[in-house]
Amino acid sequence: MAQKKVWEKEYQNPKLVTGYDKPQAFFLKFLKYIKKDLGLNLGNFRILDLGSGTGRNANYLAQKGAQVIGIEISDTAINLAKNRAKEIGAETKYIKQSIGEKYPFDDKSFDLVVDITSSNSLDENEREIYLSEVFRVLKKDGIFFVRALCKDGDKNAKFLLKNNSGKEKDTYIMPETCLVERVFSKDDFIQIYSKYFKILKMEKTESYSTINNRQFKRNFWLVTLIPGQ
Ligand SMILES: C[S@@+](CC[C@H](N)C(=O)[O-])C[C@H]1O[C@@H](n2cnc3c(N)ncnc32)[C@H](O)[C@@H]1O
Repeated sequence: MAQKKVWEKEYQNPKLVTGYDKPQAFFLKFLKYIKKDLGLNLGNFRILDLGSGTGRNANYLAQKGAQVIGIEISDTAINLAKNRAKEIGAETKYIKQSIGEKYPFDDKSFDLVVDITSSNSLDENEREIYLSEVFRVLKKDGIFFVRALCKDGDKNAKFLLKNNSGKEKDTYIMPETCLVERVFSKDDFIQIYSKYFKILKMEKTESYSTINNRQFKRNFWLVTLIPGQ
């Protein structure tokens, strides 16, 4: 299973993940957008959180009344997420499996699928399965929200791609964790996702990632997608 050991080690001895238990501002902004601009009611949603980590987003969504399932490969992260759900009385369901393998869900059974900086760890074969599976399980009027590492204008990505490149296109190996990550240019992101989805909104944002107590400025894509035809 892809990079499972690296992620498990990361959760046991964190160098990268923060352990925060609340959604980040960009995700709250997205939820406001779907409520205010698209007129959708989260409380009625069935939501799939890909790479749910310690449940910061999945548990929050479940607390708001949505029916939420998180898929995650790290046992440690799943246990933390489940404990937090219990503490706050959220009925979030967590499943241990890779988001790069076929999903155990019916066709068109989710209103919202979120991938918050998780699929960057997939290889190209897994990415193809992830894309077709999200398309399959998303309702025709469903929404797919992706936060992905952006290559454009990111000096750290440029440095890593040059000095620590991985085997596949636009991948590098993070020296601190040995995690292989994929970064996306705007054109690549559009080309890859357009096979299955239409882009409703795409913005580039900047944020700081902390690794071993050092801060690195990184660029991210925040993208709202809907199923294509
Ligand atoms: C950067 S963390 C983000 C966690 C969470 N989405 C959040 O916003 O807090 C990436 C997460 O994806 C998980 N992950 C990475 N590859 C995965 C895979 N193939 N299948 C399932 N989970 C995966 C990692 O274990 C980790 O929890």
